Amino acid sequence: DVLFYPEKLKNVEDKVVVVLDVLRATTTIATALAAGAKEVYPVSSIREAFSLKKKIPGALVGGERGGIKVPGFDLGNSPLEYQNLSGKTIILSSTNGTKALTKASQAKNLIAGSIINAKAVANYLGRLNLDVIFLPSGTDFQFSLEDFAGAGYIISLLAQQKKIYLSDQAFVSLKLAQNNSPEEVLTRSFHGQRLINLGFQKDVEYCASLNLLDVVPVGRVSEGRLVIES
Ligand code: MLT
Repeated sequence: DVLFYPEKLKNVEDKVVVVLDVLRATTTIATALAAGAKEVYPVSSIREAFSLKKKIPGALVGGERGGIKVPGFDLGNSPLEYQNLSGKTIILSSTNGTKALTKASQAKNLIAGSIINAKAVANYLGRLNLDVIFLPSGTDFQFSLEDFAGAGYIISLLAQQKKIYLSDQAFVSLKLAQNNSPEEVLTRSFHGQRLINLGFQKDVEYCASLNLLDVVPVGRVSEGRLVIES
């Protein structure tokens, strides 16, 4: 199934949940892990991000509000900033994506999906062989085109491997992905336009790079906190 909004998520304990924030948090998480980061802690609030940084020596704190790097953070939310991170711990706080991830933290299996790692995620889901819920992070509690289509690119790759049952919403998401390139979708989307107007055209192009990275960010709860590793 593919949900429209994060707030519809219920009873996740026995479910596989793929959270998507294609623009840009889950793309940034995949990029950070591919760049050697040891782990990423998604946190909802800025205060939580600063307080966790004090507890983890050497951790870098990244994220945005309104698309712009938070004052005092080491990094913004641009995936292009997340390079050469060997062994680093990243604490990430973004407007919608990290909130959706923490909301889904109790899932049986939690995966951070995006377009850049669509194939790796599809292969992982194929091996799990369980029902999957795709959870778009949305934009300010609104439907987000890029996350809904992002689920469709993963479903399309999964459907090439095996016969799968699609809910009505999953079917629409697949058709959307089959009929539009990632570049078209991301450039057309409300949030894509907002990022372009903020000067992040290169981020939008990068986030549309289908199957660029072979990394599967997987969540687990450690000492009451969600941590994502590859
Ligand atoms: C979010 O969590 O809302 C996004 O990742 C915002 C952004 O593009 O930085």
